[in-house]
Amino acid sequence: MIDAVNVKKSFINKKAEHEVLKNITIHVQPGKLTALVGKNGAGKTTLLRIIAGLHDIDEGELFIGGEPQSTKTLSQRKNIGVLFGGDTGLYNRLTVREHLEYYGFLYGLDELILKKRISLLEKDFQMGSYMNRRVKHFSKGMKQKVAISKTMVHDPDIYLFDEPTTGLDIIGSNMFREKVLDLKEKNKTVLFSSHNMEEVALCDDIIILHEGTIHYEGTLNTLYKENNDWNLNKIVMNLINEEL
Ligand SMILES: Nc1ncnc2c1ncn2[C@@H]1O[C@H](COP(=O)(O)OP(=O)(O)O)[C@@H](O)[C@H]1O
Ligand SMILES: [Mg+2]
Repeated sequence: MIDAVNVKKSFINKKAEHEVLKNITIHVQPGKLTALVGKNGAGKTTLLRIIAGLHDIDEGELFIGGEPQSTKTLSQRKNIGVLFGGDTGLYNRLTVREHLEYYGFLYGLDELILKKRISLLEKDFQMGSYMNRRVKHFSKGMKQKVAISKTMVHDPDIYLFDEPTTGLDIIGSNMFREKVLDLKEKNKTVLFSSHNMEEVALCDDIIILHEGTIHYEGTLNTLYKENNDWNLNKIVMNLINEEL
């Protein structure tokens, strides 16, 4: 569970203060998939980074699994799996297996449990043919699969994915979809940003962010009903272009 209450965040750009998140209140529930949607620059990555504890907030409150995020305890960090778009955070000289072992070790996993998790991820992500190869020359899709599996190695309760399927081919994207549906079954909390409305349509809940403010937060079903329409693409476009 993730709760943000009146969260504000500004950055200083060229000496001017730029309010990136204006007054964000959200409630992200376990056992549900929640999509974070909005134009480039809306503040999606900033919000995800804040929840992951990578940026401090200026004002407001943030709770992860009911605990204030400001404490950033080890158990809290262990309980979050994050993947940020663009930067897969992989080490060229390590193999897939070494990446997963390294992260498992960092999270203090028992050796036997780690072995089991790695073989499960290898199977789930169909990485068997390249588990022992260094990632340096991997395609973007292969790297992304390693990066996504890395977020799952310690079996956290909360998952944050920033544009996880950008650059993935149809097989990789479908694998991601299957994985998040699996996580939902396991009652995990999953929040991911996406520009792909087909992917967003898989979610139970949607948060539409526009210029640092929430334009909609709620279930997809309510959104469809309120707009008397099933065309998610059209609804979202209308909501983020309202003032045009
Ligand atoms: N570390 C930073 N320093 C200064 N400005 C930033 C920083 N991170 C993001 N921004 C600015 O915040 C705004 C929102 O960015 P971002 O959260 O990346 O949006 P999105 O992920 O929705 O595209 C942009 O105007 C961006 O330039
Ligand atoms: Mg972004």
